[in-house]
This record gives sequence, structure tokens and C-alpha cells, in this order.
Amino acid sequence: MKIVTVINAKGGCGKSTIAMNLAAALAKDGAKVLLSDMDPQAQVTEWLHATDGLTWEDTIVAPLLGHAELTDVIHPTIHKNLSFIASAFALEEFGRDIVQSDDYYELYGRVLAQLSPKLFDFLIVDAPNQISPIMENSIYPADLFIIPFESTKAVKSYANFYSLLMEIRPANDYHLLHVLNNLHRAGLRKRVMERMHEEHIPIAQSEIRNCGWLAQVDEHGGSILKYRPRSKGAQDILGLRDEVLDLFNSKKRKKVANA
Ligand SMILES: Nc1ncnc2c1ncn2[C@@H]1O[C@H](COP(=O)(O)OP(=O)(O)O)[C@@H](O)[C@H]1O
Ligand SMILES: [Mg+2]
Repeated sequence: MKIVTVINAKGGCGKSTIAMNLAAALAKDGAKVLLSDMDPQAQVTEWLHATDGLTWEDTIVAPLLGHAELTDVIHPTIHKNLSFIASAFALEEFGRDIVQSDDYYELYGRVLAQLSPKLFDFLIVDAPNQISPIMENSIYPADLFIIPFESTKAVKSYANFYSLLMEIRPANDYHLLHVLNNLHRAGLRKRVMERMHEEHIPIAQSEIRNCGWLAQVDEHGGSILKYRPRSKGAQDILGLRDEVLDLFNSKKRKKVANA
């Protein structure tokens, strides 16, 4: 199972939009996908219309506290091949409570290790906005980070995420995809690219353009591929999916070539 975490230390940059739609795109391609909402604001959980009657016992908080197995809180969705783990506001409190133990940032990774590796091909994690113990837990197990940039402020916030990444993952055993998102004003897009260049942040091939339909998918079960399959938002999400698949497949190809 490959773990893909969508993250930046800034709200509104497009994390939940990308996490939800990328998960749906990978599932549509036939992969078995698990989407994990790790944001206490539970945006993805709401998009999947899963909040009705949901208590913290049905969310990631229960296995993190040791009150349930992870498999007890994996829910199906209306999307074929796509399952998900809900979040709840209680996750924030949980984050505050764990910091006294030394290895608190490993807890989520340990819970994920309960899963049989063959059960899912991909785990997509929607990380929280703030530097927090929950963000550290989201960083610890990831194979790939997707970082959306929708403003020059996102470039500044990236530095905060990056220093946390260096602390938690000193071995540098992960991939990074820095993705431009929702930059519909040409001047702003240019400034963001310049700032990224100055900071030596390489920009991914894929870009998610501004797409009004993407901003409305929350009312329609969360996936642009179902709601507006011909939109530029859908095209761009499929492009990102292919970049993610290529990244993991080329690594596999390299291993075979070196064998
Ligand atoms: N490419 C895009 N085109 C249009 N709207 C977008 C795009 N990406 C994100 N949005 C909108 O921007 C807002 C913030 O995105 P969201 O995914 O919620 O960010 P985050 O999870 O990082 O806080 C949402 O209203 C979302 O619908
Ligand atoms: Mg979000």
C-alpha cells in the first residue's frame, strides 16, 4: 500500500479538493483506495455525506485511542473501490493529549500498520492545515507528499511544513509533488512560480486549474469525475493521477533494472 499525503501548512490551498478527487480517480482506474480524513475539521467526511449520526467511535480517533481496530472504522462510499476513514473534531483534542509521550508522532503510522498490505493499493491522507501533532502523525508514514500551492502565502507556509518534514523524516525516503492549484489570475500564477523558483521548489508537471465545478463537488458526493467528467478540473485530476502512478511505477521499473 502506497501512502499519499496531501499537505501544506495553510488552509484553503486545495488539500481536501485534491485528496478527495485524486482518491476517486485512482479508484476509477481500478485501484483499491482508502481515503483517510486526518483534518479535525472533517471536510472530506462531510463531502462524503458521512457525518449523519457519526460519533467519534466511528472515526480514526477510536483506533488511535486503542478503543477499536482500524478495520472497524473503515466505511464504504458511493464510489466503487473507494473506502474511507472519517475524522471528527475530537481528533484535535486527541492531538493535544498525546504530546507528552516521546514517540507520539508515530501513533497513526502504527495504527495503519494493522492493515494487511494487500487490502488497499493506495491510502490517500487529507492532512490538517496547522502545524500540530496530528500533522506530524500525517507526515510520519507517507511515501509521497502532494503539496498544493494556490498563493504566495502557500510558498511561505511550505517552509513551516518543510522544517517539520526534515525533523520527522530525516532519512529523506519519500517523494514530493509540488502542485500549482487554482491559480486563475496569470499575474498571481507568475508570482507564485517565481517565489517557488527562488525557494528552489521544483514544480510538478500536473497543475489543477481553476474550475468552478471543482468548487461544487462537495454537494455531489465529492468526485469531479462523477459530477463533471468532461470539465478541465476532471482532466487535471486525471493528469495528477497519472503522474502519481508514473512516479511509483518508474520506481518499480528502476528496481527491476537494478536487479
Ligand atoms: N482548482 C480549483 N478550482 C476551483 N476551486 C477550487 C480549486 N481548488 C480548491 N478550490 C476551492 O477552494 C476552496 C479551498 O479548497 P480546499 O480543498 O477546501 O482547501 P484546504 O483543504 O487546503 O483547506 C474550496 O472552496 C474549494 O472548493
Ligand atoms: Mg481541507
